[in-house]
Amino acid sequence: MAQTAAIILAAGQGTRMKSSVPKVIHKLLGKPMLQYAIDVAESAGAAPIFVVVGFGADQVRETIGDDVKYIWQTERLGTGHAVMMAEEELSKLSGDLLVLYGDTPLVKAETLMALVKEREEHQAAASILTVKLEDGAGYGRIIRNDKGSVLGIVEAKDATPEQLKINEVNAGIYSFEISELLKALKELAPNNAQGEYYLTDVIKIFAQKNLEVVAVTAEDAEEMMGPNDRVQLAQTEKYLRNRINREWMLNGVTICDPENTYIGSDVEIGKDTIIYPGSFLLGKTIVGENCSIGPQTMLTDAEIGSGTNVRTSQIIQSKIGENNDIGPFSYVRPGTVTANRVKIGDFVEVKNCNINTGSKVPHLTYLGDSDVGSGVNIGAGTITCNYDGVNKFRTTIKDEAFIGSNSNLVAPVVVGKQATVAAGSTITKEVPDGTLGVARSQQTIKSLWKSARQRASEKKEGNKE
Ligand code: UD1
Ligand code: CA
Repeated sequence: MAQTAAIILAAGQGTRMKSSVPKVIHKLLGKPMLQYAIDVAESAGAAPIFVVVGFGADQVRETIGDDVKYIWQTERLGTGHAVMMAEEELSKLSGDLLVLYGDTPLVKAETLMALVKEREEHQAAASILTVKLEDGAGYGRIIRNDKGSVLGIVEAKDATPEQLKINEVNAGIYSFEISELLKALKELAPNNAQGEYYLTDVIKIFAQKNLEVVAVTAEDAEEMMGPNDRVQLAQTEKYLRNRINREWMLNGVTICDPENTYIGSDVEIGKDTIIYPGSFLLGKTIVGENCSIGPQTMLTDAEIGSGTNVRTSQIIQSKIGENNDIGPFSYVRPGTVTANRVKIGDFVEVKNCNINTGSKVPHLTYLGDSDVGSGVNIGAGTITCNYDGVNKFRTTIKDEAFIGSNSNLVAPVVVGKQATVAAGSTITKEVPDGTLGVARSQQTIKSLWKSARQRASEKKEGNKE
């Protein structure tokens, strides 16, 4: 395949979303729609990738980042106009240009590659992706002559009643020969129902010049779904979810209830892992083999080692080792790394911690900015006081230390190897290796003491006499 560049049109608002955020950054399974188009172009081997932005351009750029080249379209005068905005950049390139719309997140890389291949094999000026629909609704209709050659695309708003009956529609995904495209763009005119420069008119211009246009018909009509409102957004997500879940099930992952399991498109899962309902695996999450995830669990950019169980918990941007036992109700926040056989139990929050082999944090604990050795036991109710209101400090708990229940470890502080912290202590100074740190007031016993009840009942007795 010769050099392929891509341009993704994403300058529109998406009025029917009724949103202050541009349509293309609304998310499907945790990932902005536009990012799907970028990723698929990249998987198809396209470089560079241009993104045309306009409405909410700053928000788009903030969400998507700077791995793509942005082109500004200050006035939205149509899809043809949007491509024209990139004329200067495109004129430096030759070969193939893929054009995608930022609101078509389900198209597959294979489809894009097939489109480019078809065009190159036919040495055509363009190849277009078409879909057969019972009701073509608002889509552009594909006009062919008796021999089946494509003559043009007519937008629904410009179509005659006869043309509206055509059931082959334009998916909005194209491969163009760049120099021919640039020439044709110069000939576009906004003489249509919407007063816009239609990219689709390029096809008619090619046909008039006897340049070949090939149409590739997609087998899977859902690939071109482009949500316009939030009802369609949910439908699109559902379709994507089913596609992804099915793929994982066919690859050896058990998903108990696929209708209630949400797996992002960039997630990886090892075989014989079981996922229980109500679970979300999002971002760049990687789950090993033989894991048990859920129910009601959310993993975001999390790495989970093989054999680990995560029950009713949330793990964000953290790396969990093998054979860990997490939850129920654990909250593992960014920057946490655990080794193998670690337990993080119920109502435990862990942030930015390293926890070594076999250590246990079974219940009701907050560990923040801590380095925990191996074989450590953290008692219920332990709190690392890592924040003085201005700065954050680290806590070090060395191998085989034992932290008694309800202790406060005021950072920066070190608990030594095999050291013990007595329950209820507030530790502010280092507890050296092998020692016991006790930091609580001593218990006193007052034997000559009467409870209020005792005093009251004695008073009552006295009154009777
Ligand atoms: C377009 C096609 C139609 C096709 C349909 C498939 C044209 C003229 N029509 O119609 O044939 O069936 O897609 O989904 O191309 N955009 C810009 N700048 C603009 C206008 C649009 O960047 O000035 C972007 C939008 O953000 C959107 C994409 O281009 O991502 C498509 O625009 P949209 O207005 O949705 O086109 P459709 O009417 O859906
Ligand atoms: Ca559209």
